[in-house]
Amino acid sequence: MTALSTDEVDLLSEQAIADPYTFFSMLREHDPVHWNAAHRSWVITRYDDVAAGFVDKRLSSNRVQIIYEQKLSPEQKVQRAPTYEVLSDWMVFKDPPSHTRLRNLVKRAFTPRAIQALEPRIIEVVDHVLDLPSAGEIDVVGDIAYPIPAMVIAEMLGVPAEDRDLFRAWSNDITMLIFEGARDEHDRQLAQSGLVALSEYLHGLVGAHRKSPKNDLISALIEAKEDDESLTEAEIVNTCVLLLFGGHETTTNLIANSFLALMKDPDQQRVLLEEPDLAESAVEELNRYDGPAKLVVRRAAADLEIRGKQIKEGQRVLLVQAGANRDPLRFADPDVLDLKREDNRNVAFGFGLHYCLGAPLARLETQIALPRMLRRLTNPEVVGERLSYQPLLLTRGLTNFPLRYS
Ligand code: HEM
Repeated sequence: MTALSTDEVDLLSEQAIADPYTFFSMLREHDPVHWNAAHRSWVITRYDDVAAGFVDKRLSSNRVQIIYEQKLSPEQKVQRAPTYEVLSDWMVFKDPPSHTRLRNLVKRAFTPRAIQALEPRIIEVVDHVLDLPSAGEIDVVGDIAYPIPAMVIAEMLGVPAEDRDLFRAWSNDITMLIFEGARDEHDRQLAQSGLVALSEYLHGLVGAHRKSPKNDLISALIEAKEDDESLTEAEIVNTCVLLLFGGHETTTNLIANSFLALMKDPDQQRVLLEEPDLAESAVEELNRYDGPAKLVVRRAAADLEIRGKQIKEGQRVLLVQAGANRDPLRFADPDVLDLKREDNRNVAFGFGLHYCLGAPLARLETQIALPRMLRRLTNPEVVGERLSYQPLLLTRGLTNFPLRYS
């Protein structure tokens, strides 16, 4: 088996963006630990290797700080300092022990029980968003899949309703940076403006919560304490940026991608509608089949070997969930959507220390939204010839999803 050359493997090619599953399955079969010179990254696509990678201490999440401190010129450092100030506080870019401290404190405010208590409110939000004329044309992404998680996370944090529209543009700009679609310094500066605007806004909101505490996530983050530790002002603000961003972009794509998958498969639609008890495992399967997470990035903190390939300290490693979750060695008929699949545990929400903190929220929102969307948007038809996906390396989301229903 020969390794594929980088010339053949452009991770942002039209084909890779349109159908990452076929694209990564080619790599998984022929070169499962692939060096890609263009992205200067190792690309890991087999389930076993990806799952092992998530728990390998030699694969570090600390890349923002290292890149900033070691790889940027003095001029770039000045240019990118505002981005660094926000991202260096995100737990997703930290290793233990600072990751452990931050995650434990945030976990106290963001508990599965607090999320379960939101169920009635999420139902109201979904019903409100689906309060549509009996027939018409909508954009599933912009009109439904985006507003549901955006409204829920904004309410959880305690953002006043009249300010919520501000986030959409900021969040879009940030997506380009975090999910690696930024092509040049101009894109990076645009993303930085979004980050700065969002963090300045949240700074004001955290200040107001300090003066008059409320029953919401910001107040819970202010109050969170463990072993005499609490979050600094910057950590609170920057964690709110992370939660707002995480709450906006990923679940939107899970809802929209899943609705599209079900639209194409009337049998599976029926399964979801007729067997509501399956909702939980159905969402797990939909996240495996065509979820938003394509890959996560790590940095080798030491030399290591995977399947005979020598990975050197400092090199970038991409753990490709879109490859792992369709690996035939792990899942029978991996390219088939089967809501009744018995063992559908997958790596869409990650694995190990950084396992998605928002997973219970994303699951609940999607479980509530999908059956209601299927019942409300009857006789759905995609408008136009072809749906397109955002040209991002880390995530899979439709650019828009125009739909006619009647
Ligand atoms: C379908 C929706 C979602 C998917 C597929 C997803 C996926 C992921 C993945 C793969 C990770 C691990 C990243 C890594 O290992 O480097 C992660 C971490 C995280 N996610 Fe999510 N996520 C989703 C929704 C959410 C939501 C709704 C929130 C919050 C409102 C959220 C907050 C977080 C946080 C805070 C982390 C960092 C955890 C840590 O580093 O310890 N996510 N997510």
